[in-house]
Amino acid sequence: MSVYAYQDRQFWVESVSFQQLAEQHGTPLYVYSKRAILDDIRRIENAFGSIPHLTYYAVKANANRVLLQMIAGEGLGADVGSKGELHLALTAGFAPNKITFSGVGKRDDEIAFALEHRILAFNVESTEEIEVINQIARQMGARASILLRVNLDIDAGGHAYVSTSMRHNKFGLPHTRALEVLRWAAGLSHIEVRGVHNHIGSQILRPATFLQAAEAIAEVVQKLREGGVPVHDVDFGGGYGIQYHGFVSHPELPRETPEDPALSTAELLGPALSVLRGLGCTLSIQPGRSIVAHGGVLLTRVLYRKETAEKTFLIVDGAMNDLIRPCLYHAHHQIVPLQLNNAPHEIVDVVGPVCESGDFFAHGRAMPRMQRGDGLAVLCTGAYGYVQSSNYNARPRAAEVLVSGHTHTVIRPRETIEDL
Ligand SMILES: Cc1ncc(COP(=O)(O)O)c(C=O)c1O
Repeated sequence: MSVYAYQDRQFWVESVSFQQLAEQHGTPLYVYSKRAILDDIRRIENAFGSIPHLTYYAVKANANRVLLQMIAGEGLGADVGSKGELHLALTAGFAPNKITFSGVGKRDDEIAFALEHRILAFNVESTEEIEVINQIARQMGARASILLRVNLDIDAGGHAYVSTSMRHNKFGLPHTRALEVLRWAAGLSHIEVRGVHNHIGSQILRPATFLQAAEAIAEVVQKLREGGVPVHDVDFGGGYGIQYHGFVSHPELPRETPEDPALSTAELLGPALSVLRGLGCTLSIQPGRSIVAHGGVLLTRVLYRKETAEKTFLIVDGAMNDLIRPCLYHAHHQIVPLQLNNAPHEIVDVVGPVCESGDFFAHGRAMPRMQRGDGLAVLCTGAYGYVQSSNYNARPRAAEVLVSGHTHTVIRPRETIEDL
């Protein structure tokens, strides 16, 4: 049986009914499936076949402590983007020598904290940052390993906010400057140059885009070596796209046609790996979404139906403060009923209670007719869901629950108004 399925017209995750979870813990509620996450990790690891590599989980995708412990337990490393994420990764059990620190704006105290804990490497993004890391490492009597994030000037497609490797983006240094910068960095007293890193964007759905990036980074590696800079490590970043449309199907649900064919990480990475494996480097990747997105569902409940001359609105108890992806990126999340009732389909806007027109989960969506009190599951919300939630409109954050087989555990309690 798949992780998510309708049985007796009730929607289930593993061996637990979503309806039961919604009743027991209230809504909005994030529910994660241990099996879905572990299966996705295995699929990613299998994509490498016999190629030696290290997968660093991008903690920014979902930083729940219990999920981090689970992922660390699978032997993965972690890529962190802040001192807070580093603290969480360390306390969740990721080995410091399997942690990298990425991000365009690392503070001095964050750099010192990372050096103190002897993480494997910093993925650096500017010459000023390298100078600061060198200075702090000198003061601490430490040596900092770095990988230079190169901007490959590749259009990874998708929403502009998740495309990170075009010339005009703030990320990395132009690939044309890699040799000059790393030659200089290699001469600094407290810096050890390990190699190069790229991360071209997120939710990338075409193997050809990764192949283009692999060919570009291979060219950078070759030029560095020709110029006398040894390259030991290549970190190929994250960004492996996942299926959002039509994730769950049932004869009573409207059919959702994907915009792009849903490819596995193995299919997305395959052509790129055929280039990267020949570089003679230690190879790593930093997936976030492809590890946790399918493993998470946001449960919400219909507060009101509102029919106007223009539209039918389903006003639900979840909002943009719980899941901002539709508002921020116009992201599509399939929304399905927790209970099927053979209801006719209708076109609705699914919106939250927050005082913004941007507070919506879906616009113009075909769904079975829903009533006040009905439960809904917003699918594929394990990545960039809870982590981007806020207290906007003084709304306490949702609880998080982890399902494993027949059992479930609250892995973060619901905030209360006293927590605000
Ligand atoms: C440096 C870096 N690595 C990895 C990731 C993870 O990307 P994804 O979740 O698309 O795999 C991100 C996401 O923004 C990132 O900025």
